[in-house]
Amino acid sequence: VAIAAAALAIKASKSSTIGGASKQKRIVIAGAPASGKGTQCEMIVKKFGLTHISAGDLLRAAVAAGTDAGKKAKEYMDRGDLVPNEVVVTMVKDRLAQPDCAKGWLLDGYPRSEEQAEALIESGIDPDLFLLLDVPDEILIDRVVGRRLDPVDGTIYHMTFFPPPTPEIAARLTQRSDDTEEKAANRLAVHHKNVDAVVGKYESIMKNVDGNRAKQDVFKDIERLIKAM
Ligand code: AP5
Repeated sequence: VAIAAAALAIKASKSSTIGGASKQKRIVIAGAPASGKGTQCEMIVKKFGLTHISAGDLLRAAVAAGTDAGKKAKEYMDRGDLVPNEVVVTMVKDRLAQPDCAKGWLLDGYPRSEEQAEALIESGIDPDLFLLLDVPDEILIDRVVGRRLDPVDGTIYHMTFFPPPTPEIAARLTQRSDDTEEKAANRLAVHHKNVDAVVGKYESIMKNVDGNRAKQDVFKDIERLIKAM
């Protein structure tokens, strides 16, 4: 059923591309841990109404639900390592097959290895734009350890850069278990080991974005690139 739905979603998306006027947008956003992918996705979704699919969020939901996939993923996520492809590839493909993806999608944190990129390409799932957020390593650790999440509406805060607006919101914020300095260092090493191979698969549609600026300034560049699609 999932494969048939995927085929329909891909067909719907491709036929509208041929139609021209209402071309569906299919975007990948990549970058190191805490480079601002989730933050920019919040703004992209608000502006362009795409379906946001975060591989990390899918995995955390599976862990929280205690599914078999979640049980397998947990130990890798706890270390900041990549979850094996046998878990993550199917999870993302199934999500892309959901009807809400036919209106266009924004894939966050996937593909993250050469094998994952190849799996997408083999499935005929082709993005039109690959955004890569560039942020120097020394900035990223501060961003990781200061991050807090609002469980009520999903807003991403930072205790220094984007503090919560009220004491009530501050009191309910949570911190991800992998947002420690040590785990972030491993996540960063894993990113550096894999990023060139992934980028190599998408050179013709790749755009670098300087992510080491105010988030609104980063978004202005991204907005321009998306409008030009
Ligand atoms: P995932 O959840 O994807 O984590 P990540 O890639 O490490 O990225 P983050 O979510 O940490 O950061 P972000 O870039 O979204 O930054 P954010 O906007 O929140 O993956 C977690 C784990 O799941 C992985 O380690 C792995 O185990 C597994 N996994 C995921 N995908 C996988 C895959 N494809 N294959 C296998 N395993 C996979 O911002 C961070 C902070 O900075 C926030 O506090 C924010 O407020 C702040 N900030 C954002 N923008 C700015 C700015 N412009 N200026 C100042 N501060 C900013």
